[in-house]
Amino acid sequence: MQTHIKNICCIGAGYVGGPTMAVIADKNPHVKVTVVDINAKRIAAWNDEDVSSLPVYEPGLSDVIQRARGRNLFFSTEVEQAIDQADMIFISVNTPTKTYGKGKGMAADLKYVELCARQIASVAKTDKIVVEKSTLPVRTAQAIKTILDQTGNGVNFQILSNPEFLAEGTAIKDLEEADRVLIGGEESEAGQKAIQALVNIYAAWLPKERILTTNVWSSELSKLTANAFLAQRVSSINSISELCEATGANVKEVAKAIGLDSRIGSKFLQASVGFGGSCFQKDILNLVYISKSLGLTEVADYWEQVIIMNDHQKRRFAEKIVQTLFNTVSDKKIAFLGWAFKKDTNDTRESAAIYVADQLMDEQAKIRVFDPKVSETQMQTDLNYLNTRSEAENEALLKATEDPYQACKDAHAIAILTEWDEFKTYDWKKVYEQMKKPAFIFDGRRILDRKELEAIGFRVYRIGEN
Ligand code: UDX
Ligand code: UDX
Ligand code: ADP
Repeated sequence: MQTHIKNICCIGAGYVGGPTMAVIADKNPHVKVTVVDINAKRIAAWNDEDVSSLPVYEPGLSDVIQRARGRNLFFSTEVEQAIDQADMIFISVNTPTKTYGKGKGMAADLKYVELCARQIASVAKTDKIVVEKSTLPVRTAQAIKTILDQTGNGVNFQILSNPEFLAEGTAIKDLEEADRVLIGGEESEAGQKAIQALVNIYAAWLPKERILTTNVWSSELSKLTANAFLAQRVSSINSISELCEATGANVKEVAKAIGLDSRIGSKFLQASVGFGGSCFQKDILNLVYISKSLGLTEVADYWEQVIIMNDHQKRRFAEKIVQTLFNTVSDKKIAFLGWAFKKDTNDTRESAAIYVADQLMDEQAKIRVFDPKVSETQMQTDLNYLNTRSEAENEALLKATEDPYQACKDAHAIAILTEWDEFKTYDWKKVYEQMKKPAFIFDGRRILDRKELEAIGFRVYRIGEN
């Protein structure tokens, strides 16, 4: 097993694999990095001359791609060939929550990861370091190792856990200036050598003290724990937002007052319509599922409450809209500004907007959405995935527009679901004039200036204040 890697393969060209490999290739010009995916359309988009149509939108990503692509960064559908040539293979495929069978709605579905492991086992002829990059439940590395060792042909495999801590929308910055990189491996000599090989890749741009090495299970569990702690902060402040609305306290003032305590810190205290994204909910559910499987009921219940609080936050936002619009939204037009789960990304997985829309559509509201980076097709896919009503009904009730003013024209109310910066710059007087009166704004992200809107004539509700 060598400690200087020449050839890397990454299986999975998604939100994690794409940006991560782009930065690794950019910083290690002498290492050949090939990102493979079974989705030919996705690979074609990564190879598109026009970098504005990359499959993942991330600020700064197109510059990195332009520097490295074709030099030592390649995107391909030739999965087997890339596995065969690589000394180090990252598994970066999707691990959605199971939608069937045991652990349905909670456990991670590992079928894509297992398929990768089997493919690596059948193709590999030389020793490989296999790195798990996808978010996985604790002990997955062990499962991967068992598959590789039993179906392999005398090839030695070392399995490392190298969880991703990048947040979407800031992925490139998070990779280039990572707070820390975590690498878990076996305590054996071969395990330590494999760890060193991956340390060397990151040391090309990060100071050594930020590269932590641990055993495999600590590394796997740290990823789930980090996301659970972050999500818990959002649910905690969101629980306080409801209390603020009931008492006349202002959540912004409360968040500031507690955030200045250095033991608490100021980040991740932004009250919102609820957290979304591919990681928080999934990772907490994973933690809950693992705890339950181990018979740790109190631990499971403790973390599950973070999810319950988040579901409640989304639901009460939708209820607030219905209640304020005189208890009926049937046939009323409600404009949504934002569909992505947060700003600066085109990712919509678990976005609060999906659930708020679904609930309002149950009340027969007509939703018109504007999001600067999300297509109508994606919105319909998200709704259809919930299985609440037929595809035709979803299409009839929800439509996207290319223009925010068009979305708001003749609307009874506007709901802010994503904190895109451009929403702050709109001509709100013009928006107001084209709306039905009384004109309501429900600011689920607390980004608009309340006084200014009220001076125009809007009736304003913001999460966390009354
Ligand atoms: C607390 C608040 O910190 C302080 O700001 C407030 O004004 C009064 O209440 P105190 O109760 O004196 O102060 O002690 P604190 O340091 O907060 O510890 C409280 C408990 O938590 C202790 O039993 C401590 O041992 C425990 N603790 C604290 C832990 O178990 N782990 C930790 O990481 C920190
Ligand atoms: C998260 C972790 O931050 C990252 O370290 C991990 O690798 C992947 O999961 P991400 O899901 O991309 O990243 O976004 P993040 O910035 O953590 O936001 C998650 C959700 O919480 C978003 O919906 C966001 O809008 C919401 N949020 C965040 C709040 O509502 N309030 C806050 O104060 C912070
Ligand atoms: P993440 O946010 O974890 O990166 P994505 O869904 O964005 O998740 O990306 C995962 C990618 O992995 C998808 O593009 C999918 O096509 C790809 N993938 C899944 N299974 C395999 C496989 N066996 N071989 C190659 N690519 C795969």
